[in-house]
Amino acid sequence: MINKINSLAEYLQKYQESVANPENFWEGIAETHFWRKKWDQVLDWNFDGPGAPDVKWFVNGKLNITENIFERNMHMRKDQVAIIWEPNDPKEKEVRLTYGELFEKVKQFANALKKIGIKKGDRVAIYLPMVPELAIAMLACARIGAIHSIVFAGFSATALADRINDATCNLVITSDGGYRGTKTIPLKKIVDDALENCPSVQNTIVLNRTGEDITMVEGRDIWWHDLIKDVDCDNVAEVMDAEDMLFILYTSGSTGKPKGVVHTTGGYMIYSEYTFKNVFQYSDGDIWWCTADIGWVTGHSYIVYVPLLSGATSVMFEGVPTWPDAGRFWEIVDKYKINQFYTAPTAIRALVAQGDEWVTKHDLSSLKVLGTVGEPINEEAWRWYHDLVGKGRCPIVDTWWQTETGGIMISPLAGITPTKPSLATLPLPGVQPMLVDHEGKELKGNGVEGILCIKHPWPGMLRTTYGDHERCYQTYFANYPGYYFTGDGAKRDEEGYYRIIGRVDDVINVSGHRIGTAEVEDAINQHPKVNESAVVGYPHPIKGAGIYAYVICEPLSDNELANIEAEIRSTVTKFIGPIAKPDQIQIVSGLPKTRSGKIMRRILRKIGEGDASNLGDTSTLLDPGVVDEIIDGAKVEVKR
Ligand code: WT7
Repeated sequence: MINKINSLAEYLQKYQESVANPENFWEGIAETHFWRKKWDQVLDWNFDGPGAPDVKWFVNGKLNITENIFERNMHMRKDQVAIIWEPNDPKEKEVRLTYGELFEKVKQFANALKKIGIKKGDRVAIYLPMVPELAIAMLACARIGAIHSIVFAGFSATALADRINDATCNLVITSDGGYRGTKTIPLKKIVDDALENCPSVQNTIVLNRTGEDITMVEGRDIWWHDLIKDVDCDNVAEVMDAEDMLFILYTSGSTGKPKGVVHTTGGYMIYSEYTFKNVFQYSDGDIWWCTADIGWVTGHSYIVYVPLLSGATSVMFEGVPTWPDAGRFWEIVDKYKINQFYTAPTAIRALVAQGDEWVTKHDLSSLKVLGTVGEPINEEAWRWYHDLVGKGRCPIVDTWWQTETGGIMISPLAGITPTKPSLATLPLPGVQPMLVDHEGKELKGNGVEGILCIKHPWPGMLRTTYGDHERCYQTYFANYPGYYFTGDGAKRDEEGYYRIIGRVDDVINVSGHRIGTAEVEDAINQHPKVNESAVVGYPHPIKGAGIYAYVICEPLSDNELANIEAEIRSTVTKFIGPIAKPDQIQIVSGLPKTRSGKIMRRILRKIGEGDASNLGDTSTLLDPGVVDEIIDGAKVEVKR
């Protein structure tokens, strides 16, 4: 078991050790795990050069991550609750699965997957709502060495099909439908639409959740409950190489379609587990709740793999924070006596807006640690969280990390690192952040601002982007050769604390979700009346950033004009999903372009921010008149 750091002095010492000799440091942690065979070499790496990135941790080590969750913990935790599932509707009964029960279900479903021919290395798409079977399906894949690719159940059929095809999945696991607040989402229907364009898929497994009417395709679709009937629970885990793929998770970048971030077995396990007890100071018997959806990396790591590796009790919530009322989070905290609570700033801001009484009417005295993730937290939200939710006695850990990093990278250790509102503070042991200027020169010392890169590999980092290794190099390693480029800008203050400022690329962080502007533009351009579009982020009080689309259309009749915004929104919903719908759509006759035809997004961003008083150098604009027209018609108030 991993020993947690207990004091600032110990953190500083561990940090020094981890930088002086990273291999010794991580080897010491890996020793506490269950390996079928130990490694020959701790690390082999190359960030720049032939085949880069080429990163291997625990070379030739053999293991299965589910043996580290179950077999390793079983003697002491068989009857301890592993997962508490809270349904969307508070009137429905919760489900509690002990480690023993969850293990049986995982082994049984693993055998069921084998029965339909799924084997090590196969890719399995999972498109499920937040139900315990989602965790069971993930772990069953890991048990047999199949690579899961979970697609957030809010993505559209087109987005799902793109992801299935990119990874040539042969199986999709879904449910008839899913509940979210007052809505029911017809997941199986969406899968049916997607599968019209997915030749690699041979089967779907369908869980009965909502009981709504669906079509089952003969020979292709199998009910979950039929599949597991009479399947036994004896299962020996597949032996995996430390560098065998564990999962693929798609995420957006500056260009093109989302890419499949690949995490491998050994390094992800060691790194992500290490972060948990240290950042959140989880102690045996505590009840842990991360409110994310398992469709995002936060849920992969901090609802399923990490808490279960750590022998924790993890709460999983199917619903939304505002239904049946805005007190739902706090009602759940009270109901299960949650000790550590981890959520996104956007959720906090949404709840601040609903008023304090939703918080104060519940007993939150069980809380010990509060965490945030996904986007910068503004000081007002931080104060509310700290003073009202935490009653001033719970440390807040503002955790910075990414889909690509596997686990938390820069964060206070709860109760150990002195915090400051809106600062992610210090790197975890083993993490070597650096700031560079635009030329790639390292900015040394404190009190500097630049682009955040990481100097040295850590075990939880991505290894490739599925099916396109060159893209991985181009995206993360080409800009600043020799370093991992995060895509974020950051400040290091006088004390050496990091403040994450936000993306420096064309990615918008909407409610803590990454949306690529190019992806949204591609979707908007699918509308038959649209000629061109440019999308930027703009400040949004709840979402952090909203999506602002400037769109050039063909000549429109009055009637068409009246409907065009709604139609553009539904086009985006169809091609990506509701999360990428523009908040503001402005129909324009032209876009600010340079003589060489490049859109000057800087100007569009300024207008979206409502401040056109200083547009910088506009001398290269082909038609400066366009800018005035856009300011006149802007959807927000613009200072000239
Ligand atoms: C991007 C990664 C990894 C968890 C969920 C998001 C932003 C993440 C913070 C934070 C400021 C943050 C960054 C990062 N971000 N955490 N504590 N403070 N910004 O994962 O979808 O891969 O997004 O989220 O911009 O690059 P993701």
